[in-house]
Amino acid sequence: MNQAELHRLLALKGQKKKGVSSSKSLFEQRLATNLSLIKTQFFSLYQEKEHRTYFFTLLSKLESLFKDRPANLKKQDIARLNSGNWYQSEQIVGMQMYVDRFNKDINGLKEKLSYFEDLGVNFLHLMPITTRPEGENDGGYAVNSYHEIDPKYGTKKDFSVFTKEARENNMFLMLDFVVNHTSDEFEWAQKAKAGDLHYQNYYYTYSDRHIPDEFEKTLPEIFPQSAPGNFTYNAEMEKWVMTCFNNYQWDLNYRNPEVFIEMLGNLMALANLGVDVIRFDALAFLWKKLGALSQNLPEAHTLISLFRMCLQVIAPGVILLAEAIVAPRNIIKYFGEDIAEGNECEVAYNASLMALLWNSIATKKASLMVKSVTEIPSKPNDATWINYIRCHDDIGLGYDDDFVRAMSYNPTAHKQFILNYYCGKLEWSPAKGLMFMYNPKNGDGRITGSTASLLGLETALEQNNKNIIDYAITKILMMHGIILTYGGIPMIYAGDEIGTLNDYSYEQNEDQVNDNRWVNRPMQNWDIVSKLKKEKDSSSTIIFKGLKNMIRLRKKHSVFADNNDIIVHGCPNEHVFVYQRTFEDKSVWILSNFNEVTETLNIGWLLSIGIHTGINSIDLLTGKSFELIHDDLTLKPYEQLWIKNI
Ligand code: GLC
Repeated sequence: MNQAELHRLLALKGQKKKGVSSSKSLFEQRLATNLSLIKTQFFSLYQEKEHRTYFFTLLSKLESLFKDRPANLKKQDIARLNSGNWYQSEQIVGMQMYVDRFNKDINGLKEKLSYFEDLGVNFLHLMPITTRPEGENDGGYAVNSYHEIDPKYGTKKDFSVFTKEARENNMFLMLDFVVNHTSDEFEWAQKAKAGDLHYQNYYYTYSDRHIPDEFEKTLPEIFPQSAPGNFTYNAEMEKWVMTCFNNYQWDLNYRNPEVFIEMLGNLMALANLGVDVIRFDALAFLWKKLGALSQNLPEAHTLISLFRMCLQVIAPGVILLAEAIVAPRNIIKYFGEDIAEGNECEVAYNASLMALLWNSIATKKASLMVKSVTEIPSKPNDATWINYIRCHDDIGLGYDDDFVRAMSYNPTAHKQFILNYYCGKLEWSPAKGLMFMYNPKNGDGRITGSTASLLGLETALEQNNKNIIDYAITKILMMHGIILTYGGIPMIYAGDEIGTLNDYSYEQNEDQVNDNRWVNRPMQNWDIVSKLKKEKDSSSTIIFKGLKNMIRLRKKHSVFADNNDIIVHGCPNEHVFVYQRTFEDKSVWILSNFNEVTETLNIGWLLSIGIHTGINSIDLLTGKSFELIHDDLTLKPYEQLWIKNI
């Protein structure tokens, strides 16, 4: 039983005893429930004698933050608690977008609520909308404020009108909490630059290169091409400051308890904008230690859980998403382990599945994916994934080398093959992607590009080849079919629902040209959307309609709720990915052929995993039963079936 469950019990008890349990006393009960954990975690991070007083500062901060939580959101917290693990429901389908690139601003977004409804999307991840520096700002991930809305998006009023309307449309909202760093224009950074030592201690600042050089011995580089190294010299301050990401993103020093307490206030300011899920950005980097990689450190986990425990006291209805794009075995840890199991983040990006899907497309085989997802420990019952194919970032090839070796591949050569496949180095590959941050020191590189271009649609359209166009469309739908059925919240990247290709205009923009992730951050093409009904045979229409149908089917079948029940079958045909989703006595089997030729599965094997054949089962996608040819089920290139026994 995790802490959330205890809070659910408290809320229920409070409701039964009407009148007795005012919201204030509910707060006190919640605090009492989490207090010993909060204390343990706080003092495990902040062990110095002089840190003691900050614990009392934290306690009074919790009280004042609760007081400031708007009454309607306090009510919503209780409603969310009562609805249990709502985030595991099959009814939720997400979309991620840059508000300005989607439809100009917050009011523009509001105008598109009917677009989401038509497609079946009811969960939005809005990327940063708060103030940021002019010019380069990492798409808003360099923050000047955690709660002041950037005028280019609108006003706070616009946002509150939007959230109200969104909520009336049963829409869930997610915003980013850029927890690892602020911009170099943030008020603390400005004070630090002006020489205020108090605020210099909010960041990792050093007068000479001694400690930075020590750090550099083990810290990896995140943007080795555009922002090499992990420190930036600030002439105003006459000091070096830690900047693991871009040189204008200053890493916060959580070794200072004041930083944690202030950031808790910022977290609440964001939560009070009326969001349901908070995306903890780059949270693997939160704690830095000399001599260490400084990613996924135990202290980072403690800190995240401490944020979680405090947030739960103030706003138990708000949940956390871990943006930990790290090795498969490390991702699972963000759900919390041991005493913190279920007490860290409720949701995490399924970055492993995402990277493995791209691997399966390039190798045309599902075997590495099957091995990896079956051998990694499963997540806790209360947790769920965000399943996705693409997002605004690059694709990192985070495979477990042991599993790659088990496939008889050499990990370095294999990575190089995947990079070559997607980044235009293999003549026969239809993929059109770009190499991101290639590091000649270790041969590491990542991939950028839109789903459609990486899956060959751009090449196919250029060649005007109907067959290849069809293959690309089928691949796009097959990949989406997996994220919609795998178990978790599917997150569609805006534009992918209409097969948007790479956008090369970033090359002409001086604020973007050094960061080719902009190739997969296109403006939403409303012209294409307006033609979806008329142009019945266009690739966009086929993709949109196919996706809409799959979303409808997901919501219709309760097997697709995430009850931690997925069974991934080791299929005798290495090109076919097969898994089963169940609820009570019902099952649906998802079969996906990653090969460019027809593949077969024998009736004996299908029966062994529980699939009836002949007229006793149907493919939900077409509503038809499937035919066997000589006791074999055939799957056309990139074909996907959602099989249900009847
Ligand atoms: C996350 C964001 C990415 C950003 C980085 C630094 O990884 O997804 O876009 O560059 O954090 O904030």
